[in-house]
Amino acid sequence: TLSSGIIGIEVYFPQTVVSLKELEKFDGVSQGKYTIGLGQDNMSFCGDREDVISIAMTVLDSLVSKYGISYGDIGRLEVGTETIIDKSKSVKTALMQLFESCGNTEVEGLDTTNACYGGTQALFNTLYWLESPYWNGKYGVVVMADIAVYAPGPARPTGGCGAVALLLGKGKEVKLIPEVQLRATHMENTYDFFKPNLSSEYPTVDGAKTISCYLRALDTCYSRFIHRAEGLTKQDNFSLQDIDYIVFHAPFHKMVQKSFARLLFNDFKRDPENTFFKDVQQFGNISMEASYSDKDLEKAFVTLSKALYEEKCAPGTFLAKNIGNSYTASLYGNLACLINEKGNDLMNKRIVLFSYGSGLASSMFSLKVIQSVQPIAQKLDMRTRLSSRIWMNPEDFTKTLQLREQRYGQMDYSPSNSIDSLLPGTFYLEQVNSIGCRKYNRK
Ligand code: ACO
Repeated sequence: TLSSGIIGIEVYFPQTVVSLKELEKFDGVSQGKYTIGLGQDNMSFCGDREDVISIAMTVLDSLVSKYGISYGDIGRLEVGTETIIDKSKSVKTALMQLFESCGNTEVEGLDTTNACYGGTQALFNTLYWLESPYWNGKYGVVVMADIAVYAPGPARPTGGCGAVALLLGKGKEVKLIPEVQLRATHMENTYDFFKPNLSSEYPTVDGAKTISCYLRALDTCYSRFIHRAEGLTKQDNFSLQDIDYIVFHAPFHKMVQKSFARLLFNDFKRDPENTFFKDVQQFGNISMEASYSDKDLEKAFVTLSKALYEEKCAPGTFLAKNIGNSYTASLYGNLACLINEKGNDLMNKRIVLFSYGSGLASSMFSLKVIQSVQPIAQKLDMRTRLSSRIWMNPEDFTKTLQLREQRYGQMDYSPSNSIDSLLPGTFYLEQVNSIGCRKYNRK
């Protein structure tokens, strides 16, 4: 058994946000396409004052101050991101400027990149460090930070922006601990979402393929996870019922509902006689392959899973509905959201996480709550922060993305957006010099 795990979590999202209802009108698409079809309410975005480094600095500094630790107490810092602004220099090295005043330069860890999954690998690596003879007694921190922007078109409303910092350590302070035996991974070579165009911030994306890859990865991880869970619990019918809460990587909200329903379909395939499944018997003979494109099946299992979904999954979904996809930060923001919503109710509960990054890498793993997470919830104060954001109209959102296009790869400039909308304590980009060095300031 492990003794290392999560002590604290901090989340950051930009102050600027656009309503997807308004964006539907502005884009001239049918009413409900983004809000019902994708299930999203609002989308966070930032202008040219914030970049992946600044949002990572903001969330890390906020974690350090809220948890009353010093930069000198951190022995390892890893970053998960897929927002590339330099092909060589890691975001992690940029974060080292925050350590300067306390003189701590002995901090291992760099960036890990694979679409939305990098943060998960960074988390696993930091846990390995904590459990290894190389551990130097200090905290480990993992920062996940991304700015998700898409070219105009159907993928654009699935953008977003956010950053998460996890404080990891060993011993008495640990609140969430991984169940070592309960982890399953599936990786393979796919081209569903990727960024081959190095002169653009936008990905190349085959939307339908991303969804089928995600669901296939989910099926594979779940079946391996169940196999291990049955070994661990010595039972032969482990199912969703044995999971208290589940959080998913959330590209858009509808995907989370469908993923939850998909797990129930997997349970049905394993235990079709169970009376719980009496109304979906007609799907008994469908092959896994055919099941991905069967809309009737999807609908039937979304309906059947409604009550379970509300209980086990919904509490971890409102952050992503309100900020959009934050790639590597999405899953861990959802974990924070669950903690924010449920607080002490999570005591002794099993939380299962599903991480997916196109290309593809995926894992399903479990965290057990061993100590009250109420202090984390209090520090997050997520609902207040979400409701005090600044609403921008779709015209300004579109102009801002055009400005970001112009800034991508540009050198020798000072950002033109005002810093008025930033909250005190937020880090922002002050200048990019003629050879591409970036200078930051703190509001
Ligand atoms: N009212 C209600 N629902 C509507 C409306 C409307 N007016 N119009 C459309 N819809 C529904 C559709 O019926 C469909 O529902 P269904 O999924 O239940 O069948 C849903 O909205 C989506 O509409 P589509 O036409 O199928 O797809 P669209 O062209 O809008 O593209 C997509 C959606 C593929 C998700 C696109 O936004 C995309 O490519 N996003 C980026 C990739 C992504 O996020 N992939 C997920 C995993 S990988 C990752 O995390 C990046």
